[in-house]
Amino acid sequence: MAIKIYAFGGGQMVEAMLRAALKKGIIKAESTGVTDISANRVNYLTETYHLQASQQPDWSAVATADIVILGVRPQDNWQGIMKELVAHRYQKDVLSIVAGVTVNQLSSSDDLFAITRIIPNTLTDVAMGYSGVVKNDRANQTVIEEFLNSFGKVDYIDESLLDVFTGYGVAGPNYIYNFLISFTNAGVLAGMPRQQANKLALENLKAAAAFVEQSGKHPAELLDINNSAGGVGITAQHELDKSSFSAGIENAVLAAVKRTKELGKENTGD
Ligand SMILES: NC(=O)c1ccc[n+]([C@@H]2O[C@H](COP(=O)([O-])OP(=O)(O)OC[C@H]3O[C@@H](n4cnc5c(N)ncnc54)[C@H](OP(=O)(O)O)[C@@H]3O)[C@@H](O)[C@H]2O)c1
Repeated sequence: MAIKIYAFGGGQMVEAMLRAALKKGIIKAESTGVTDISANRVNYLTETYHLQASQQPDWSAVATADIVILGVRPQDNWQGIMKELVAHRYQKDVLSIVAGVTVNQLSSSDDLFAITRIIPNTLTDVAMGYSGVVKNDRANQTVIEEFLNSFGKVDYIDESLLDVFTGYGVAGPNYIYNFLISFTNAGVLAGMPRQQANKLALENLKAAAAFVEQSGKHPAELLDINNSAGGVGITAQHELDKSSFSAGIENAVLAAVKRTKELGKENTGD
């Protein structure tokens, strides 16, 4: 049976999650409610996906929802939405994507809520990538996982690791896109037509990832196989070892994690 969702905030991220879940048939448009204060978003979501969108909450639909998504920004009035949920005695699962707001901050004093906090993966349209997930004891793991799996994978983590998860894991595709661009440019620089360089770069990326996964070997072992004595591979390896290739990626991840922490402090006023 389809999962019933009601989302507060129908912005970019909620749209991406719902689009993927609709495509997988995990949710149905006729039983998916969204409240967004923006009339433009309400019209857009209604016209594009035929969702039950409105500017004011439909509390009878909220009451029957398996999962309420808290999908607003940290600077929006998420506290007000949680208070309304308490007032309406909503008692099932609340799934928060609000960056920087902790499970404790979301929990009500009378402990009504089953809370799951996620940092969603952004590659929802291909349903790949891990969402970082933190939940309290009351959360219904089965229904939450079924929904989350419709747009990616689930990685349960300690809440203290969420900022690292964001700067490293959720920003992860950015590092890969950069590698693809640099690798393609290298082929073009060496004389390969761009279209062909694009094709080879993408296939190498997919094939190498598949081989690491299927062989179960550490990438260093696979490099050893490829880098024969005095050969082409080890010559390229020498140049990479002399360069700032590794440090560049490491520094970028550290900077992204630092920025995640800064934004969390700015937005939640901690
Ligand atoms: N986008 C991503 O890739 C991504 C990834 C991971 C996590 N997140 C997190 O997901 C959350 C949403 O981000 P987003 O990018 O989807 O933001 P967004 O596109 O700005 O969506 C937020 C939406 O909520 C509406 N809204 C504000 N207050 C509301 C209220 N009280 N009731 C109902 N609707 C309300 C906003 O309307 P107005 O614009 O009219 O104010 C806006 O349409 C944030 O906490 C963000 O950190 C986003």
